[in-house]
Amino acid sequence: MIKIDYSNVSDSIIGEEYGLNLKNEFDKWAPKIEDIIKTLNFNKDKQGAWLQWMNLGYNEETVWYVKEYAAMVDGRFDNVLVLGIGGSALGARAFCHALLKPYWNMLSKEERNNYPRIFFLDNIDPDEIKGLLEVLDLKKTLVNVISKSGLTTETMAQFMIIKDKLQAELGDDYRKNVVATTDKQTGILRQIANEEGYKTFVVPDDVSGRFTVFSPVGLLPMALVGIDIDEVINGIKVMDLALKNTDINRNIAAQNALVHYLMDTEKNHYNAVMMPYSNRLSFVADWFIQLWAESLGKEKDRDGNLINNRPTPIKAVGVTDQHSQIQLYNEGGRDKLINFIRVDEFDSVIEIPRIFEFTGVNYLGGKTLNELMNAEADATTVTLRDFKRPNLTIHLPKVNAYYMAELFYMLEMQTAIAGELYNIDAFNQPSAEQSKNYTYALMGAQGWEESRHELEEKLNIKSETAYL
Ligand code: PA5
Repeated sequence: MIKIDYSNVSDSIIGEEYGLNLKNEFDKWAPKIEDIIKTLNFNKDKQGAWLQWMNLGYNEETVWYVKEYAAMVDGRFDNVLVLGIGGSALGARAFCHALLKPYWNMLSKEERNNYPRIFFLDNIDPDEIKGLLEVLDLKKTLVNVISKSGLTTETMAQFMIIKDKLQAELGDDYRKNVVATTDKQTGILRQIANEEGYKTFVVPDDVSGRFTVFSPVGLLPMALVGIDIDEVINGIKVMDLALKNTDINRNIAAQNALVHYLMDTEKNHYNAVMMPYSNRLSFVADWFIQLWAESLGKEKDRDGNLINNRPTPIKAVGVTDQHSQIQLYNEGGRDKLINFIRVDEFDSVIEIPRIFEFTGVNYLGGKTLNELMNAEADATTVTLRDFKRPNLTIHLPKVNAYYMAELFYMLEMQTAIAGELYNIDAFNQPSAEQSKNYTYALMGAQGWEESRHELEEKLNIKSETAYL
């Protein structure tokens, strides 16, 4: 199992002013946590509770269909192109980046064991898309368009461009190069898929986008490039079982949710830095950022009180950000709780050759990059401790499908529990929807004409200092 070391949030290490007495806090909060975990599990099948993500590890039928389709298209495509944004892209991208061989898209087909390259297009930068279309042979590309609503402008604009080109190159046969992941019944993409005759997979109901990684949204891209999704499922199940434990002393998601909540509400440390000491895990931080920000950043609590909830996730990567952000974390505002992720055993061991005798670098000769990575992570932790900066470390025994699934499921549960502690709805995103709606209006979508006039007026209001 993955583990979390909380030593450096403890008052015995970083002092009473900034640290927590975890034993006392766990005792004090045990009944509340027990109640939250019982309620989440009790409500997980309730329609409209948005807790269906808790059941995704048990959907054997979906896993079977995903594997069957992946086997069917095996060897037929050189590339997979994922079109999706936010929750429809970040999870699969994090898994692929972590689990595929580094520089996957630069490897030969043999080196990729005949699996395709994979590209995630989660932006609409015209220059990037033009560049991608110049390097991709669309005839040999499987396009996985992912949108629950089918209304997301970015994904649909991308898809309209790609579909047009695919059809121009392949004629009616282009359909074989498209697989859509979307709502079961409703939504524009479902209608398009039905009309055009695409193979489809379902984004389940009652799961917010950022909790869909273990539905076909994430599992299909993973399976298409050969990631062992059975291991993913095993990881979810084992973690789910562990997190059903209502005793906070035995439930790491509850512990971590409470630690973050108390650090915010009692110690003013509301920023959560996610800093994996592994480049392969760098996109885990991107995925976590959406999960934490979109779930917890709410204006009002469930009782309608204005709270402007502030937990703010920040991405950093060890060791890279030791030379960028760490100065601020050590000495800047006392507002951050740093979450390190450390990998106990890297797949590779690289020795640094003894080639220079110069004092200042000769000590490196004969050591491994693994030792250096660990020493740097230790050095960073101790420095933060010296400056009395709270930090905790999530230990991943190895980077593999099983532990990745444990980690992601644990962070999902942590977010859900934190939502309950803040007494907010962690599963909606009203103002993110509002900007989506403004975009429809500005782009001239039918039904949004009135908002369009209002918006244009708002956009015309400039202060006298707009262009100094
Ligand atoms: O978490 C969310 O709900 C969002 O990030 C969505 O996943 C994102 O906006 C994409 O939505 P859709 O799948 O409808 O295209």
